[in-house]
Amino acid sequence: MGCRVVVLISGSGSNLQALIDSCQNGESPASICAVISNRADAYGLTRAKNAGIPTAVLDHKQYAGREAFDDALMQVIDSHQPDLVVLAGFMRILTAGFVRRYQGRLLNIHPSLLPRHKGLHTHQRALDEGDPEHGCSVHFVSEELDGGPVVVQAVLRVAADDTAQSLAERVHHLEHQIYPLAVRWFAEGRLRLTTDGAMLDERRLANCGEQIRPA
Ligand code: GRF
Repeated sequence: MGCRVVVLISGSGSNLQALIDSCQNGESPASICAVISNRADAYGLTRAKNAGIPTAVLDHKQYAGREAFDDALMQVIDSHQPDLVVLAGFMRILTAGFVRRYQGRLLNIHPSLLPRHKGLHTHQRALDEGDPEHGCSVHFVSEELDGGPVVVQAVLRVAADDTAQSLAERVHHLEHQIYPLAVRWFAEGRLRLTTDGAMLDERRLANCGEQIRPA
């Protein structure tokens, strides 16, 4: 039945909500079969429950280390037999073993125009460096942090009066557009990772992926 998706979260889960909405309104052949959080108080768990999606909590602090946590996480993920694993604000650095296991079926969203501003505080850094444009990227996950092949980016123009807060809000809004889009492409069998990089409809995507510039 469709493309089975497991979503990993740590927080508010607004991207999760956008994915739930796009699956529910029939836009996408993807179906979210589980939501897993490393934090019991993540609001995204409530969003999942409201949508009737099974949830699980694995508190990383209960494990001896990264390997032990990721091993347990893989077991829970695999019990749902997903075709795709989606990181949606999952604030954990993953082990190489985890990344390898889901290679080609593991997506992340990052609030910058990769490869610019990997890591944290992306909006402030875009301002500090005087970037004329900023945005967000969906990418396949590789072993390099925020370094895998980009699938799609949404680009906005930085305004003279933008602050880190206003950019965060504007970028978040764009995230809710491109994440469901990338997941839909994957679920439709149009998007895949090859040794040559990300391919959409048998076309090799440019390093910045597909670029979308909402009006
Ligand atoms: C987003 O900014 C995303 O880019 C980053 O984590 C945040 C998650 O937000 N990876 P939400 O929990 O989906 O609202």
